Amino acid sequence: MTEKNFKKAKLILDNKELDLDILNGSVGPSVLDIRNLYSKLGCFTYDPGYGATGSCESEITYINGEEGVLLHRGYPIEELAKNSNFLEVAFLLLNGELPNSDDKEEFENAITFHTMVHEQLINFYRGFRRDAHPMAIMVGVVGALSSFYPDSTNINDPQQRLISSRRLIAKIPTIAAMAFKYSLGQPFNYPQNKLNYSENFLHMCFSVPAEEYKNNPVISKALDRILILHADHEQNASTSTVRIAGSSGANPFACIASGIASLWGPAHGGANEAVLNMLAEIGSKENIKKFVDKAKDKNDPFRLFGFGHRVYKNYDPRASVMRETCHEVLDLLGVKNEPLLDIAMELEKIALKDDYFVEKKLYPNVDFYSGIILKAMGFPTEMFTVLFAVARTVGWVAQWNEMITDPVQRIGRPRQLYTGKTERSFIKLQDR
Ligand code: CMC
Repeated sequence: MTEKNFKKAKLILDNKELDLDILNGSVGPSVLDIRNLYSKLGCFTYDPGYGATGSCESEITYINGEEGVLLHRGYPIEELAKNSNFLEVAFLLLNGELPNSDDKEEFENAITFHTMVHEQLINFYRGFRRDAHPMAIMVGVVGALSSFYPDSTNINDPQQRLISSRRLIAKIPTIAAMAFKYSLGQPFNYPQNKLNYSENFLHMCFSVPAEEYKNNPVISKALDRILILHADHEQNASTSTVRIAGSSGANPFACIASGIASLWGPAHGGANEAVLNMLAEIGSKENIKKFVDKAKDKNDPFRLFGFGHRVYKNYDPRASVMRETCHEVLDLLGVKNEPLLDIAMELEKIALKDDYFVEKKLYPNVDFYSGIILKAMGFPTEMFTVLFAVARTVGWVAQWNEMITDPVQRIGRPRQLYTGKTERSFIKLQDR
C-alpha cells in the first residue's frame, strides 16, 4: 500500500507554487505525485523511455538495480530458482503468497487440464509460411485466442479473468511448441497431463510419433529454472505494453499478444537470440577485441547483446543463476568444449574489465547465458525468445490482473512535447 510522506516537494514555475505529495512504497525510492501538475501549473513532464516515471502502483516484483536485487512478492529470485518450481512461482506472482499443498494441487491441476487448444487453431498455423519466425506465429495465434475463447473475455467479471489467466498460462507452451513443430514440418504433439509443465513443453517440442519420447530430467529441471528466471520483471517494455493495451479494456488474449510483440525486439526479449548470433559471428576468442571495440565506437550502432540493462547497474541476479545453470547443464549433458561458451566467458571477462563497460555499469544480463543452455537443449535460436514469452506470460497475466483491479487505474495516455509546425493554412495543389 502507498503511504503519503509527511514531507512535500515544492515546484515553482512562473511564480506559481505547487506542493507535490511524496509517496512511499514499502521499499525503494519514493515517488513524486505529479497528477495535479497540468491542472495546477499547465505543464507536463518530459521523460522519453520513462526512465524516471512510475506508471503504476504494484505489489508484484521489486528490483534494486544498484544492488542487483530482484524480489518476487518479497522472495529473492535466487531462492525461488533454487527451491521452487515454475508453477509455484506462477501461483506466487498471481496470488501474492506461495501456495499451501491444497492450493498447489488445485492450481497445478487447473493449468495441466487446460493445456489443449481448440483443434481449429491448427488452421492458423497452416496459414503461415514454414520459415515464418515463431514469434510472428505467437503474436498471431495468441491474439486469435480471443476469438476461440470469447466466454472468458469479460474483463469486469473476476471469474472470467481467472479462467482466461489460467487458459493463457496453460496454453502458451502448447502454442509455442506447435510453432516449433510447424517450422520443422513435423506433426503437432498433443499435451500429456501426466507430465509437469516443463516436461510437457519439452515433450510437445521434441517427441515424434515414430519414437518413444523419454524425458531427460536434467533438461526439464534446467528449463523449469529458466522459466522461473524469466517469469516477471516489473514494468519492462512488454509488461508496460500489456498494461497500456489492457488499460483501454482490451481482452486479455489481445493484451498478451501485444506483450509478445514488444518482447520480440532485440533490445528486450529478442536479445537472447541476438546473443547467440553475435557469439557465432565473433567465431573465436581472437576476434573478441574487435567486437568490443565496435560496441564502444560511438559511430557504430552495434551493441554487445546480453550486456547492459535499464535498471541493473550491477550484475543482473538472473544472469548469475543462469551462468551457474549453464555450466551445470553442459556438464550434466556431457557437452565438452562448447566453443560458444568459451567465447562467452572470455567476452564477459574482457568486458567486465573494460573501462567503457565499467564506467557505464554494463554487466551481463539474463540473456547472456540463456541462449547457450537453450542451444544445448536442442532449441534453434529462433525459439529462444518464444521460450522467454512462455515464461513471461505469467508475469504479464499477473500484472494485467493487478492493473484491472487497481481502483486508480485509468486508460494509459501519455502526453508529448510538440515540436512540429504551428497552425497554418492549407495550400492548394497548384500552389505547392
Ligand atoms: N553495448 C555497448 N554499449 C552499450 C550497451 C551495450 N550492450 N548497452 C548500453 N550501452 C551504452 C549506450 O550506448 C549508452 O552510452 P552513452 O551514454 O555514451 O550514450 C549507455 O551505455 C547507456 O545506454 P542506454 O541505451 O541509454 O541504456 P538503456 O537503459 O536505454 O538501454 C538496454 C538498456 C538493455 C536496451 C541496452 O543496455 C542494450 O541495448 N543492451 C543490449 C541488448 C540486451 O542485451 N537486451 C536485453 C536486456 S535484459 C532482458 C530484457 O529485459 O528483455
